[in-house]
Amino acid sequence: MSKENKETLKIYDQKADVYLKTSIKHNNLDPDKAKRKREKLEGFIKKNMELLPKDAKVFEIGSGDGLNAKYIKDLGYDVTASDMADVFINEIKSKGLKTIKFNALEDEFTEKYFAIFCWRVFVHFTKEDAQIVLQKTYETLENGGLFIFNAINREIKNVDEEWVDFSNEYHMGAKRYYKYFSENELNEIITKTGYKICDFYKEGGANNNKWLVYVLKK
Ligand SMILES: C[S@@+](CC[C@H](N)C(=O)[O-])C[C@H]1O[C@@H](n2cnc3c(N)ncnc32)[C@H](O)[C@@H]1O
Repeated sequence: MSKENKETLKIYDQKADVYLKTSIKHNNLDPDKAKRKREKLEGFIKKNMELLPKDAKVFEIGSGDGLNAKYIKDLGYDVTASDMADVFINEIKSKGLKTIKFNALEDEFTEKYFAIFCWRVFVHFTKEDAQIVLQKTYETLENGGLFIFNAINREIKNVDEEWVDFSNEYHMGAKRYYKYFSENELNEIITKTGYKICDFYKEGGANNNKWLVYVLKK
């Protein structure tokens, strides 16, 4: 586990309550936009979950407020949500979800899953961290299982990494480690695993290229 991720997890542990409040405040600034974003994400999740067997086991890494895991559960899947920050864990549990404290870089999966969802978490992984998580999820997925994740596209910044506290929806009052991945860099580490890329696109931001979105298949 990188020292960058370890330090960032400490910040989440101290300030996850600020994160939750900021994201609600941000959504209230433009509720229609927030609704459109939510519907788009839910459409993407649903399309991919429909590729799985009915009642399939799904795991989410770094669930944060638990909204995505709740949506997956409501679609009828057997979802386990997870995070490291206690405030997030309590928030997720309050939504009635099966929840565990799980560090994607240090803890081992004890079950097999048909899909693992990891949304806006690679932002806090070094390249080495990302390789570890890709390998580890590959090993724990059922054959044909999906690993669904996104990462911030290096094209929007032209820097590899930085410590920052954004003033927008991600504001927390403390700097966290952010990694910006190029498509080549991610493709290079994906190639080292057995995953096949079954869907890839860019989305978000002023030029619709802020996020690199991947659906990988074992
Ligand atoms: C930007 S938040 C995203 C939360 C949620 N996935 C979402 O999209 O709203 C990043 C999340 O990654 C989690 N995280 C970062 N490093 C992690 C690690 N090594 N293991 C598990 N969770 C991690 C943080 O605790 C935090 O919940």
